Formats: sequence, C-alpha cells, structure tokens
Amino acid sequence: MRVGVLTGGGDCPGLNAVIRAIVRTGTFDHDFEFVGFRDGWRGPLEADAQPLDVAAVRGILPRGGTILGSSRTNPLSEQASLDGKTGLERVSANLASLGIDALIAIGGEDTLGVAGKLCDSGVNVVGVPKTIDNDLSATDYTFGFDTAVNIAMEAIDRLHTTAESHHRALIVEVMGRNAGWIALHAGVAGGANVILIPEQPFDIEEVCNYVEKRFQTRYAPIVVVAEGAHPKTVSTSVVDTQLDAFGHTRYGGVGQLLAEEIERRTGKEARAAVLGHIQRGGTPTAFDRVLATRFGIHAIRAVADGAFGMMVALHSTDIVRVPIAEATRELKLVPPERYAEAAVFFG
Ligand code: F6P
Repeated sequence: MRVGVLTGGGDCPGLNAVIRAIVRTGTFDHDFEFVGFRDGWRGPLEADAQPLDVAAVRGILPRGGTILGSSRTNPLSEQASLDGKTGLERVSANLASLGIDALIAIGGEDTLGVAGKLCDSGVNVVGVPKTIDNDLSATDYTFGFDTAVNIAMEAIDRLHTTAESHHRALIVEVMGRNAGWIALHAGVAGGANVILIPEQPFDIEEVCNYVEKRFQTRYAPIVVVAEGAHPKTVSTSVVDTQLDAFGHTRYGGVGQLLAEEIERRTGKEARAAVLGHIQRGGTPTAFDRVLATRFGIHAIRAVADGAFGMMVALHSTDIVRVPIAEATRELKLVPPERYAEAAVFFG
C-alpha cells in the first residue's frame, strides 16, 4: 500500500514521534510505502508531497514541531477551482493521481472534521488525535497535553518565587480556547491560588478576594487563567478579531486585563505573563513520546485492517479504535466536579 500522512492544525510536541512510528511500523511490518503531505490539508489540496521513509524519520523522536509542517488550511472552505472542483474534490483527485491507497490524518477537531468528510466521500482515511488542549472527545488523552502542562507548571513554579520577592500578584495566561484542561492541570500541579477556565465564567470580586486572602500570608498570589476564560458579565473571552480558516477566533489578552483589574480593585501590584506558543514548542515529555508512538503503531494496524473512518484513541491504558465522527461531535470540556476539586485550594 502507498500511505499518505499529514499533520494539521496547531503543532504539538509528539507529532514527529507519531510520524516515526507510522513509517517504521508500516515499513517493517507491512512493507508499505509512504508519502508525506506538507502543511496539513494544503499538501493534498495542492499536491505538495515529499517521500517519507525510515531514513527520513531517523532522529526525530525527541524533536518538537512536525517535519511535515502544519497549517489551518480548510479544504471545506476553499473556493471551487476553475474546473469547478470543490476543495474536497481536489484533495481526492490529487490523492488518486499520486496513487495514495490510504491517508493518515493527524490532527484535532478541525483536521479530523475534514478527514471524516473525506472518508464519507469514499477516501480511505484513518485519524490520529492531536491537541495540546486535550479537548477531543472519544480519547482520554491526546499527546502534547502532558508536555504543555509540564511547561506551564515549571513556569508557575518559577513565578512563585519572583512574585513572593516583590509582593505582587502574578497572572499566568495559558492556552485553552474552549477547554481549561491545561489551566486546571498546570494550576493544580503548580499550586496556583486561583484557576480560571472557559467552562466556568468568573466573578472578578471573588478572584480579588482570593488574591487578598493570599496576600495576608507571607506568600504571593498566582492566578492561572486559560486564554478562553471570561467574566460572568461577558459572554466571550477577550478576543482578537481575526478568524482562522475554520472560523475560530484568536484569543489572548485576558491575563493582562485581569492584572489591571486586580491592581485597580486591590491596590496591590499585579503583572501578567503569557506563555503562548512556548507551551507548544520543544521536546515532548516521555508520556507524550510513548502515547504518540503507540498511536502511530495502531494507526498503521488500522490501515492494514482496512478500518477506515476510524480514529485511534486512548481508553484507560488501551489504544482502541473509535469512529472519527465520535471524536469531532463535541468537545471534551472540564466537568464542574473536576473544577470543584481544584477550587478547594483557592485563596
Ligand atoms: O488548538 C490548540 C491551540 O494551542 C489553542 O489552545 C490556541 O488557542 C490555538 O491553538 C492557537 O493557535 P495558533 O496561534 O497557532 O493559531
């Protein structure tokens, strides 16, 4: 078989580990051939491909990013071409002309949403879940999340000491557009005094109360806020007006606004630190390398079994297959009881 591989959406530590496992398992166990598509769905849309063999994946296990490149190109929102073909039809035609028997799409809800549609149109697709946000349904964890949490936790550890030295509050803004998993895990692991997530709109008065309570000890308050978190009085987060090809708003800025508001209301100095893409770059943790490797091995097994339209997923400690549609139906949000557990430590 000739198998295409692509990585779409925001990059994620562990992507290269998946690619490596796919190529090695497919080559050694099944004698498959591989083609790597560049920059997510842009690759098959524009027939931009590169050969992918065992030599090409040597040494990439600890490397962050993706050797194939990524993008948020969305074939579903592409204009029809001069010959009248839709974006999805162009992808199918290019895959056929390159002799691709099956495609492995590694991505989050957007990339997998396109993968599902492509599969419905008759293309053999297997999905691999990816997102640092850990908000994909149908899998307990996605690789990249553990790395992002560890980076954020280390940042919080460092911010504690400088905040204490200067008797100031530090607000740490982490990624998490719709789901607060990174904020929750990093905040609990880093001993934050308040954690604010998109699922639970916050009351600024209450946040300031926690901050003041903390200032009464000899320690300084650390507030962890997910980029998508917003006050009860406002229905969305602080947003940038730019939309990506999948219609998502680019978030950012809530940390700075919180710092200004806390300073104004408490009279204590407050500063914001935005971790941003630092959480997505660099080498994956051991957990993410192992999970990504297992996903890659099982994706090839799914291709070999003809289990198209399926995505590999982690259930407890097992890798299973679930319909791609199940993973993209709705996002996995932080349940209220998980947030309530963390709230025990607030203040
Ligand atoms: O979806 C993962 C994610 O890291 C979100 O948490 C974040 O909002 C988004 O990607 C930012 O992506 P980019 O800056 O690459 O468009």
